[in-house]
Amino acid sequence: MMRSNIIGMGYAVPDRVVTNSDLEKIMDTTDEWIVTRSGIQERHWVEDGTGTSDLAEAASRKAMKMASVSPEEIDLVIVATLTSDYFFPGIGNQLQEKLGLRNIGTFDIKVACSAFIYGLSIGDQFIKTGQHNTVLVVGAEVQSTALDLSTEGRDISVLFGDGAGAVILRREEGESGILSTHLHSQGRYLKELWCEAPASRFNPRISKEMIDERRHLPYMNGREVFRNAVKRFPEVINEALDANHLDLEDVKLIIPHQANLRISQAVGKRLGTAPGVVYSNIHKYGNTTGASIPIALTEAYQEGKFTKGDIVILAAFGAGFTWASAAIRW
Ligand code: UT7
Repeated sequence: MMRSNIIGMGYAVPDRVVTNSDLEKIMDTTDEWIVTRSGIQERHWVEDGTGTSDLAEAASRKAMKMASVSPEEIDLVIVATLTSDYFFPGIGNQLQEKLGLRNIGTFDIKVACSAFIYGLSIGDQFIKTGQHNTVLVVGAEVQSTALDLSTEGRDISVLFGDGAGAVILRREEGESGILSTHLHSQGRYLKELWCEAPASRFNPRISKEMIDERRHLPYMNGREVFRNAVKRFPEVINEALDANHLDLEDVKLIIPHQANLRISQAVGKRLGTAPGVVYSNIHKYGNTTGASIPIALTEAYQEGKFTKGDIVILAAFGAGFTWASAAIRW
């Protein structure tokens, strides 16, 4: 059977490390609060002038190197990001130029924390229909430039980090590859995690008054997001297992979107997984939105957490609300 196989992976984070004690110096927060509530110890933030496409390029180059794929071979680029370098266009076309790819199709998808799995799913469909052989799927974010670093913004700003991860999908015959993907959304919760402006709904799209009212900054109702996340993660992981007639015992690793260590622990508890099955690297990177799953996938692979033949489940939940999963046989 023809499947989309992940033949290369890579990730990139900015050099600048921001620890919890660095944040203690600029807002009223503590290392103890951040670690206890989220598991985050440090995150990477860009220096001024670095854009999301720069991180995406670095991660993509590593994935292409691992896959031994040349620029000419890539047929399509899908970028999962909420934070394109400019208001428009997205960064897919910047990536096409930076990587020296042919004049192929490129596009961004804006599905927040679930976007990388949505991107995998779209890439998988192009491969399954036979339209494309080699697809680059990237998750990349620069969140740090949208954070309020005063005490008023502390509930969000301590959580987020910058980074990028990329995979190369290749059409290959065999048992390995993406087995299934499962995508969901529920627009009712739009305003529980959102950033209102700049927006086409307003003319002008952003004003001094809106900035004074902090409507250009992300807003999150943390408790409501948490409550929904711990329900949707197990649900969509079980959906992936059921679709493939798999049991939890068949799964080597579950890689959830890295939003909060407590969410991942609650998911493991609800599912009843053995210790170590739910992967976490949030302590090093914080929440990197669309980038967190490909960063975690690459790190877990490099750490030898899974190998040929293993079943790996990816799962995400985030703004929208949106949630998704993917079952992969390595
Ligand atoms: O990737 C997108 C998906 N996002 C998520 O999945 C995030 C889901 N939510 C969460 O992870 C958690 O709700 C948070 C980590 C955001 C917050 O944890 P919490 O246990 O729900 O805390 P809380 O919002 O109920 O705040 C508790 C207290 C508040 O003070 P009072 O009202 O009890 O006096 C906050 O003002 O903690 C205060 N607080 C802080 N204190 C120190 C909020 N942020 C901070 C901070 N440092 N950074």
